[in-house]
Amino acid sequence: MGRLTGKVAVVTGATLVDEGVGIGGAAALLMAREGARVVVADVLQEPVERLAARIRSEGGEAVACHVDLRSESEIVAMVETALRVFGKLDILHNNAAAIPRADADIVTMDTAVWDLVMEINVRGTMLACKYAIPHMIKGGGGAIVNTSSGSGLAGDLVRAAYGVSKAAINTLTKYIATQYGKQGIRCNAVCPGGTQTPTFKASMTPELEQMLLRHTLTTRICRPEDLANVVVFLASDDAAMITGEVIAVDGGLLAHLPFFADFMQLGAPTAGNM
Ligand SMILES: NC(=O)c1ccc[n+]([C@@H]2O[C@H](COP(=O)([O-])OP(=O)(O)OC[C@H]3O[C@@H](n4cnc5c(N)ncnc54)[C@H](O)[C@@H]3O)[C@@H](O)[C@H]2O)c1
Repeated sequence: MGRLTGKVAVVTGATLVDEGVGIGGAAALLMAREGARVVVADVLQEPVERLAARIRSEGGEAVACHVDLRSESEIVAMVETALRVFGKLDILHNNAAAIPRADADIVTMDTAVWDLVMEINVRGTMLACKYAIPHMIKGGGGAIVNTSSGSGLAGDLVRAAYGVSKAAINTLTKYIATQYGKQGIRCNAVCPGGTQTPTFKASMTPELEQMLLRHTLTTRICRPEDLANVVVFLASDDAAMITGEVIAVDGGLLAHLPFFADFMQLGAPTAGNM
């Protein structure tokens, strides 16, 4: 028996590419290994089909679904895929996100970029919840796990629209937990720090990775599987009493005072009055 045996899940932003899986792909693979039947959904057709095929090749049950989160009717169709193919819906992992390179600071912000990020990240996540929750309630309850970001918890020099969209997802998480908790719905969010997904690695240099590691409390930075472990826990009955939480899964990146890395280099000077 797996931790998710008998459950049906929808995971957005779930793909497999030559470089490996991202957070959604790792979560879907682990959900299937834990016994869930999984609808993997993404706007990229071939990578989402590859992921479904990988899950099936491991003996799991998965179906690929094309979804563009800008389209309300495609979101409805994604939810209906779970019902049509697997008969119900217990888990929704809202993980897909737009992360445009052109998303910079507020003064230079292109309004079209801002609107696109809000449309996909905030409206898309909200609509997936809107259409999934009634079916979850009918089935006796369910668990939603949203992928947020450390960018939604603190300011940065770039990706202002993205950060604000993730902060909105954090608040959406709490509203859903509050509004539907008594009907058996739990809703939580995970906030990754820098996580070694194919998308992340494509934008990283060794210098940037070293900088990130210096500011991280653990001995390495996150891997997609680290996030998948927490997502599956939150989706499972092991987390029955956790709801409305926004949980950093970032190796302590945001758990310390800003000058931690400088102190490490200086040899941690101390001060006191005794
Ligand atoms: N990797 C990191 O360092 C990191 C850090 C913080 C937060 N996150 C978050 O983790 C999640 C997964 O990120 P990842 O690094 O695995 O990257 P990823 O690029 O593999 O995942 C994002 C997915 O969203 C999909 N997507 C984009 N627009 C879409 C649309 N309109 N409709 C449907 N799907 C769409 C993409 O095709 C992609 O598969 C994202 O929500 C991201 O914001 C990642």
